[in-house]
Amino acid sequence: MSQVGTTEVIDGIGILTIDYPPVNALSAHTRKALDEGFRQFAADDSVKAIVLICAGRTFIAGADISEFGKPSSGPNLQEVFDIIEGGSKPVVAAIHGTALGGGYELALICHYRIAVPSAKVGLPEVALGLLPGAGGTQRLPRIVGIPAALDLITGGAPVGARKALELGMIDALADEGKLREDAIAFARKLVAEGGPLLRVRDRQDKVEPYRGQSELYADYLKKNARAFRGFKAPFNIVKAIEAAAELPFDQGMARERELFGELMTSTESAAQRYYFFAEREGAKVPDLARDTAALPVKAVGVIGAGTMGGGIAMNFLNAGIPVTLVEMNQAALDRGLGVIRKNYENSAAKGRMTTEQVEQRMALITPALELDALKDADLVIEAVFEEMGIKKDVFARLDAVAKPGAILASNTSFLDLDDIASATARPESVVGLHFFSPANVMRLLEIVRGARTSDAVLATGLRIAKTIAKVPVVSRVGPGFIANRVMSPRSRAATELVLEGPSPQDIDKALYDYGFAMGPFAMSDLVGLDVIGRGSNERTLQGDLVKLGRLGQKQNGGFYDYDDKRQSSPSPVAAQVIADFAKFKGVENKGPQSAEQIVARLLFPVVNEGARVLEEGIAIRASDIDVACILGYNWPVYTGGPMFWADTVGLPKIVEGLKAMGIEPARLLAEKAAAGGTFTRG
Ligand code: 3HC
Ligand code: NAI
Repeated sequence: MSQVGTTEVIDGIGILTIDYPPVNALSAHTRKALDEGFRQFAADDSVKAIVLICAGRTFIAGADISEFGKPSSGPNLQEVFDIIEGGSKPVVAAIHGTALGGGYELALICHYRIAVPSAKVGLPEVALGLLPGAGGTQRLPRIVGIPAALDLITGGAPVGARKALELGMIDALADEGKLREDAIAFARKLVAEGGPLLRVRDRQDKVEPYRGQSELYADYLKKNARAFRGFKAPFNIVKAIEAAAELPFDQGMARERELFGELMTSTESAAQRYYFFAEREGAKVPDLARDTAALPVKAVGVIGAGTMGGGIAMNFLNAGIPVTLVEMNQAALDRGLGVIRKNYENSAAKGRMTTEQVEQRMALITPALELDALKDADLVIEAVFEEMGIKKDVFARLDAVAKPGAILASNTSFLDLDDIASATARPESVVGLHFFSPANVMRLLEIVRGARTSDAVLATGLRIAKTIAKVPVVSRVGPGFIANRVMSPRSRAATELVLEGPSPQDIDKALYDYGFAMGPFAMSDLVGLDVIGRGSNERTLQGDLVKLGRLGQKQNGGFYDYDDKRQSSPSPVAAQVIADFAKFKGVENKGPQSAEQIVARLLFPVVNEGARVLEEGIAIRASDIDVACILGYNWPVYTGGPMFWADTVGLPKIVEGLKAMGIEPARLLAEKAAAGGTFTRG
């Protein structure tokens, strides 16, 4: 028996325990252990029923994603499944933690499923650009019916055990902490009752009512068109589920395999699988020892209760950590508290939390008007106006009141963190915690490591990210850090290009079709042209529109005109303003461009800036840049982010394109292109 699997027989019940840390993924080792264990029990006449259980933190969390795309070794998953499903002894899957993907598919092969209340089950393959490829699309509909299966598999969210019981995804709940005993008792009862073996594959009752209803799937795709846009997996999932309703089981399985194969070889899935690991890489800092102890953070202070401060505070309140919120005056404090309360009340109105929880969270806030109130805080996050003078003043005063060892963090977007730290006598305790707006929603947290930030403080930043459910990316100090810096050439390119012929709608459409939620001009109109142009003394295109009273969606339209329902249409006035500004700049109109040309013009410079950020050591790795753009700017995940996308386009093509635009390619980009290298592939 391999070390991954352990077998024992207690009173006629064979127990196979899988132990393959960290998450018992269905690797070659795990498959071998299953194969051996089930063969052994099949041959042992003393075994009347079998319990499959896992050691460690979870039941099997899925196929081993790190094996995808590599030559397979060990027993094939399907063969292992066939042994289990085709056996003559009842098998009970005993689930704790998360039974996901191939792990839940394995549970569906078993004859029964029992789980502790804290367990979750589900088929999250869609997030990897895949479909459940081990029978999940054929078996789950046979348990929950077609409509529920469509939602569960295209949505991919794990389902809590109690809800899973209601849906039939599991058959029984075990007591928390007593999974093994309860699963054995369950198996014993099966043996005692001696009923026929139930196989999910043989069930028809839940799918029969939907047979012949092709419009059901077309309607489903139409209803979800927005959410599915650009992705490949949801479409194949829907086809596979239709096959579950229409075809005999084995033919349905063949269809699932074919549809799975299409996804597995798609760029979209390659990008999404890359992204799965990229998100987890972000927390790894090569020169930070993995066992560096994080400092305790039990009380947090936030300075400034404006757009960012309020959202930042909410993250900690949600995690049950008390927050002292400091403002300049009572009016600003009341306004900030009011916004937080309103956000929570909106969540309560949507049923996402109870009114009691709203009050519990609000009660965790201590409002204050003096920095003195922060003397007991373990971590203070500053989110005041973006002005060096003000930030330094705040940090100097904070340094005087904060307790020794307290972490002093800034949410600055562009300013030099080391300069801010120099206002204190403890630069080793200063770190950047750069949230994205809205801070209570956006999952990205850039952790800015100053020249003197201590390892313990950096490690604490990473731990805090986990506590408040953010995805961390570590940045060195530099203007705009990672996401804002690499994305800024996109807007610059858009304002240049619109003077050369393509209209705002041509440019926006090209970027929308690429996969962004909206193009740069629609975005400017939404944010407000007055806000975007603020602080600039030069004549700008936005400024010219603002002079005509066109502030964007909120007033008279901007690059577009808007009707009462905020539906946009091309604006002849804006077109004239653009033409006049082009004349003022002496830019010649060269006519329209193809979507491909527009995308290259706007996004190749982003890749180039990404290369610079890497070259300068601001970002640790290319995948951190991708994570920052995907989570901070909604860059479409199925392209993998700018650096992964650049590799799929081909770096020589990017270099050529940049040169044709008159842009000097970054050294690292040029070198990699010349050497046939890539940013993200080994
Ligand atoms: N394969 C390989 N490694 C995996 C893995 C998997 N399926 N799931 C997690 N890991 C690794 C992570 O990379 C991480 O490694 P690291 O410590 O070296 O960084 C480690 O396990 C722990 O993972 P997390 O940091 O994510 O731990 P959490 O406790 O936060 O979450 C989890 C655990 C909920 C299981 C989460 O890891 C997860 O969602 N995993 C993916 C589940 C999944 O998508 N399964 C489907 C796979 S595809 C499939 O099954 C195809 C089939 O249909 C044929
Ligand atoms: P804001 O103007 O909405 O809020 C700033 C708040 O700080 C105001 O309520 C102000 O009264 C308060 N304040 C100013 N000086 C203070 C002091 N000395 N003591 C206590 N409170 C004080 O600004 P916003 O947008 O929240 O930005 C704050 C910081 O976050 C800036 O550094 C900004 O660059 C950064 N940031 C902003 C993002 C955004 O999208 N708005 C995104 C990421 C970072």
